[in-house]
Amino acid sequence: MVRTILITGGSRGIGRACALHLARSEAARLILLGRDVAALEATAETIRRAGGSAETHSADVTDRTRLAEVAGALPPLHGLVAAAGISGMTPVDGDGDTDAFFDQILGADLTGPWNTVRACLPRMGAGGRIVLVSSVLGRFGVPGYGAYCAAKHGLIGLAKALALELIDRGIVVNAVAPGWVDTDMAQTGIRQIAAATGQTEAAFRAQAEAAVPVKRFFRPEEIACGIAWLLDPANTMQVGQCLNLDGGAVQA
Ligand SMILES: NC(=O)c1ccc[n+]([C@@H]2O[C@H](COP(=O)([O-])OP(=O)(O)OC[C@H]3O[C@@H](n4cnc5c(N)ncnc54)[C@H](OP(=O)(O)O)[C@@H]3O)[C@@H](O)[C@H]2O)c1
Repeated sequence: MVRTILITGGSRGIGRACALHLARSEAARLILLGRDVAALEATAETIRRAGGSAETHSADVTDRTRLAEVAGALPPLHGLVAAAGISGMTPVDGDGDTDAFFDQILGADLTGPWNTVRACLPRMGAGGRIVLVSSVLGRFGVPGYGAYCAAKHGLIGLAKALALELIDRGIVVNAVAPGWVDTDMAQTGIRQIAAATGQTEAAFRAQAEAAVPVKRFFRPEEIACGIAWLLDPANTMQVGQCLNLDGGAVQA
């Protein structure tokens, strides 16, 4: 059976890697959602050129009306990956813009996956698989990242609750908590933390890599493999869990 899998944030980074992985590994039909449809089309075109199937829809995950409109026209879904997200620093003594940014991060990273699941659920039946992309910052705190840590901790709680709510419908929900992954988001994070701590970007990156037990950042493709396992129909054991994909940083 060809599965249809919807991915938010499929234009770049982890979402894009998931789309390419699922197209290659099981010839899944991909539905890609994000704000920049031209960027999504680049991922879709790569999949189509390799003989796969992908369609794109412009949707901001904070826009419930638009999500409902898109989801209402979708075919039955077998999988959903909520990978769309933003990051950035929200220091507690930050300037006036910090409150608005706090709300923006919570909106995209916590309410966004909630909105996406709500919109897509009517299209998903027994056998469905949902993966919410949290972070190691959903496992521990980092100074200056209050909004992002709150959203990513919240996302793990959401996965636990939804898992128990949906398991009787045969839908399996889990989260993943990646460590540092080489994407645009990580580059921005390195730049911001280096500036905030008075280090060069290279020095901060070296320090961040040294703090990971396996001593390196991850490739988006590696995270896609972990997500693919949770999406697999064979996974009926891991339910309401958060799979750490962090090279040993968190052992709980
Ligand atoms: N990179 C890391 O080190 C790392 C570590 C742990 C967890 N994560 C998590 O992994 C997920 C993917 O991160 P990434 O590193 O791949 O980031 P990325 O390269 O910056 O990509 C983020 C994706 O999310 C989309 N997006 C952002 N806001 C959106 C919105 N409001 N509505 C719809 N789409 C939106 C972006 O597309 P548009 O901007 O075009 O809409 C883009 O496709 C995020 O949830 C992130 O928090 C990342």
